[in-house]
Amino acid sequence: MTDYSSQVYWENRYLNDHMEIFEWYQTYDSLKEKIYDFLKPEDQILYIGCGTSKLAEDLYIDEFKNVTNIDFSENAIKIMEDRYKEQKVEMIYKVMNAENMSEFTDGQFNVVIDKALLDSMLCGENALPIVDKMINEVYRVLCDEGVFIIVSNGDENNRKNLFNLDLWEYQMMEIEKPSKVVVLDEKDPKNYHYIYVLTKKGKNEEEKKEEENNENNNNNNNNNNENNKDNKEEDDKKNKKK
Ligand SMILES: C[S@@+](CC[C@H](N)C(=O)[O-])C[C@H]1O[C@@H](n2cnc3c(N)ncnc32)[C@H](O)[C@@H]1O
Repeated sequence: MTDYSSQVYWENRYLNDHMEIFEWYQTYDSLKEKIYDFLKPEDQILYIGCGTSKLAEDLYIDEFKNVTNIDFSENAIKIMEDRYKEQKVEMIYKVMNAENMSEFTDGQFNVVIDKALLDSMLCGENALPIVDKMINEVYRVLCDEGVFIIVSNGDENNRKNLFNLDLWEYQMMEIEKPSKVVVLDEKDPKNYHYIYVLTKKGKNEEEKKEEENNENNNNNNNNNNENNKDNKEEDDKKNKKK
């Protein structure tokens, strides 16, 4: 069985296929009706596991200009960089593993999109810790009330338990599969793909206050330490003079 979680698999596929654009599951046109309301033109959008999908280009042509794309396959990113070299499309493409996005700062993005990446990860052995790492990283790079949109082949019974609902508001939408669809699990008889929309819960007033208090306490402790150090230096000087 194909291991869609393997980096080697994807590097070889992109090298050998020479296929410029390949769109898994759904196009932007078909998704637009469902996801448009979650996006604002000024949003910073991150597309993880972009592959050679045209989604970012279509978002850009529509009205969403700030799209950063990452994939762990160098070959995929090279194909996309070559595609846009000649065109005046300012999108960012980076080779990066979605399990570790340390190049990005906390809260940098308003929206993160995953189309078929989570599903590929789940094809591997020992998938759950990997999926957890990816979701934790997405949580970190999203701002409060930022939105994580996942387009997946897996229904709620197989996906909902992956998300910690203490941290996310959860909603799910079904979208009909286009007739000639590529699926990761060919045994799946259902006619739908699933769009999971996870909204990062912002901190409530109590949590914000507690964080502020902790910060103030830390600052006070630092000031006290500085004062103690100054006093000690004064005492040492006096003692030396005696
Ligand atoms: C099924 S393809 C989907 C491609 C694209 N999102 C689409 O919808 O057409 C999965 C993509 O995720 C990438 N990928 C898999 N694991 C990854 C990881 N840990 N970090 C970044 N990219 C990853 C693969 O290289 C591949 O391009």
